Amino acid sequence: MHLLTFLPLLYHVGILTLVYIQTSNFTSSATSAGKVCILQNSFEPGFIAEGDYIIAGIFPLHYNQEMPDLNCTYKPPPVKCNGHRFDPRAFRWAQTMRLAVEEVNQNLELLPNYTLGYKIFDSCAYPLTGQRAAMAVLNGMSEDDSPMCSGASPLLAVIGESGSAQSIVVSRILQPFQIPMISYFSSCACFTDRTKYPTFFRVIPNDDYQVKAIAQLLVRFNWTWVGVVRGDHEYGRFAVQGLMRELQGTSVCVAYQEMIPLLYNQQRALEIISLARVVVVFSAEGEMTPFLRDYMKQNITGIQWVASEAWVTASVFTGKEYYPYLGGTVGFGIRKGYISRLSNYLETVNPQRYPNNMLVKELWEALYGCSPSLSSASQLPPCSGQESPLKQHSAYLNTSSPRVAYNVYKAVYAIAHSLHNLLMCQPGSGPFKNQSCAQSDNVLPWQYYLQEVKFIIAGEEVNFDLKGDSIPYYDIINWQRGTSGNIEFVNVGLFDGTKPAGEELVIQEDMIMWAGDQSEVPVSVCSASCLPGSRKAVRRGEPVCCFDCVPLSLNLSITKCTFCPEDFWSNKDRTACIAKKVEFLAYDSLGIALTVTSVVGACLTIVVLAVFFYHRNTAIVRINNSELSFFILFALTLCFLCSLVFIGEPTFWSCMLRHTVFSITFSLCISCILGKTLVVLAAFTATRPGENIMKWLGPKQQRAIIFSCTLVQVVICGAWLIDAHPYPSRNTKYERSKIILECSVGSSLAFWCVLGYIGLQACLCFVLAFLARKLPGNFNEAKFITFSMLIFCAVWLAFIPAYISSPGNYADAVESFAILASSFGLLFCLFAPKCYIILLKPEKNTKQHLMGKEKK
Ligand code: TRP
Repeated sequence: MHLLTFLPLLYHVGILTLVYIQTSNFTSSATSAGKVCILQNSFEPGFIAEGDYIIAGIFPLHYNQEMPDLNCTYKPPPVKCNGHRFDPRAFRWAQTMRLAVEEVNQNLELLPNYTLGYKIFDSCAYPLTGQRAAMAVLNGMSEDDSPMCSGASPLLAVIGESGSAQSIVVSRILQPFQIPMISYFSSCACFTDRTKYPTFFRVIPNDDYQVKAIAQLLVRFNWTWVGVVRGDHEYGRFAVQGLMRELQGTSVCVAYQEMIPLLYNQQRALEIISLARVVVVFSAEGEMTPFLRDYMKQNITGIQWVASEAWVTASVFTGKEYYPYLGGTVGFGIRKGYISRLSNYLETVNPQRYPNNMLVKELWEALYGCSPSLSSASQLPPCSGQESPLKQHSAYLNTSSPRVAYNVYKAVYAIAHSLHNLLMCQPGSGPFKNQSCAQSDNVLPWQYYLQEVKFIIAGEEVNFDLKGDSIPYYDIINWQRGTSGNIEFVNVGLFDGTKPAGEELVIQEDMIMWAGDQSEVPVSVCSASCLPGSRKAVRRGEPVCCFDCVPLSLNLSITKCTFCPEDFWSNKDRTACIAKKVEFLAYDSLGIALTVTSVVGACLTIVVLAVFFYHRNTAIVRINNSELSFFILFALTLCFLCSLVFIGEPTFWSCMLRHTVFSITFSLCISCILGKTLVVLAAFTATRPGENIMKWLGPKQQRAIIFSCTLVQVVICGAWLIDAHPYPSRNTKYERSKIILECSVGSSLAFWCVLGYIGLQACLCFVLAFLARKLPGNFNEAKFITFSMLIFCAVWLAFIPAYISSPGNYADAVESFAILASSFGLLFCLFAPKCYIILLKPEKNTKQHLMGKEKK
């Protein structure tokens, strides 16, 4: 009963036709039959064929040149577009649809045992007429022909409309009935809103890709001052909006933005043709014709037009007379295809074969300037009947590169394939609940099949994405002079929206012929760049592309301003680009100082190691767990050495090694100290004699503790290296005049985990040592461990803020300094007192003295 909601509206457009009224709702007006179907107005299709399933096609077979009479005080007359100019190109699209349907019917594999029929309507390129066509599609032609009443073949889908403005209206009419439509030319970005247009599909890419392509083209040719003109419809509005969005942040300024009014007005049009040399036009040939006529009257040449897909292949403009004004136009054309039988098929259409068809008659009038039937009221001379289709009637017969026609062809096949899938469904393997199939008389599942359809046609795969859109691909077309002085469309590149950003646009620049027969790229700027000896001065309130050049007072010669390449920087006078300084922690004074310190530290540790080894049998070494001491000294040597990895130019390997080697050696070192502390603590807290806790902390267990504590760090580092390892990077952000080579940590989480783990170990060690610091004995190591951990933590706490606030190369220096400082801290605190006793006070190096039992 949705149709009822349309009643007032439909009456408006004068096409309230068949209305199915149920008795229960309208008892008073109901007849005993229960149905009242009254045809209020008629709209005959241009072409019709019967079939089991009907597809409707809506094509703009006439250019819309004036607004129809919209006076609502009387019943509108039947639709008649013949007052308008016939469009042979759209007629070709309509014929392509007929061809495709016939092909499907002949195809034994596709829809065997079923036939498709069609009804083709003319929308006269006008939304309101499109709406009337959509209503006529739903209604059928006579009372008992309506799919909404009874008896007629089910209406499967609508192929149409061309312009987005018309498609919007048609889609709104079809929506309540859940009849899908596939548009072959409506590219407006507005259709991506699935909630507003749930039954809309298209075989043309969304304009969001086209505006991206146009913006890239403008940037590519350095056209920084462009005019934008659009028609008065959704297509134009959304395209300009999109282009503005794409141009944001580029060097391109829009000089003006104008609209060709729906009610054409010469005054306005002349204002539009203004100063910018490059003009982007989002419009179609119908509405552009009067505009171009006035432009040509002005005798302005040399405007470089950038055409949208809607008119870039419009054959009405290919005449000789257009060349001086439109030659050189570049634009994006939709993907072309190949339809093998199209050209033969088009030639079969002639007035002899279709004697009663008004459209064929009009085609003949448009192509040959003669009237095929004598009875008609036209002023044209009668045709001889000998006219044969000539190839130069390109608007109709040029089938060398069908683009929109190919879309129509694809649309028919998409419908045929999805209907085929729906009808051939085997119960038990269907796509619906419990593997069931759709009932073929139910329209709802039908859309599912259309959404999911996928097939190959002329080598191209066709399918719809979730928004009902198709794959973005455009040809770049250039209007060049043909052999007879007319305009020819030459393919000079492509835009492939599926390629990664920056690689989408491919242009063969040397093949392009520019406006005014130029072979050089036209220049379109608001202000030419300043000559040497002058500089830019911005004009207040004007776009940045417009500026004055003021002479320089000094005798400086400044050439035109350009951005220096990425690795360059301007010199002090801003007259030349000089290479940026590359910085890293090199072997300069700082680097050398750090290297020397680290080597000295490592040597010192080795000396201590040697001393300990030599005196390994003395009391102090033995009492203090000689094995652990050797471990610690070994780890410390590595700690000193690992600061060397931070010096020098970062490479792949040095970056990988830096933090990992450092963290693992430190972890090892602190694990050993931790083990030592545990032993000290355990030895003294074992109160009851029988319960010898030392049994649980024997050398094996100690090794196990050290090993497992270090293993945790190794695992963290391993995960870091596998998942997001550190890598060398160039930091140009910190200082614009420098490139800082540094190691990017890859994953900051991992970096802070690694540091955090060392911190955790150090804190634990500190707490344990702190508990043990007061235990008896003259040489209580816990005291020294406490002290060393205190220094260690202080160094690393100071390191964190310093590290965060230092730029690249200094951060490395800070880290390597922290490593050295903490290593020295550990070395001195843990080993200096022992060495003192070993080397200088050997008399104290006895068990008695060390246990504090001497005095007793
Ligand atoms: N892609 C355009 C659109 O979506 C094509 C088009 C067809 C057109 N007919 C038109 C644009 C009429 C403007 C006017 O609308």
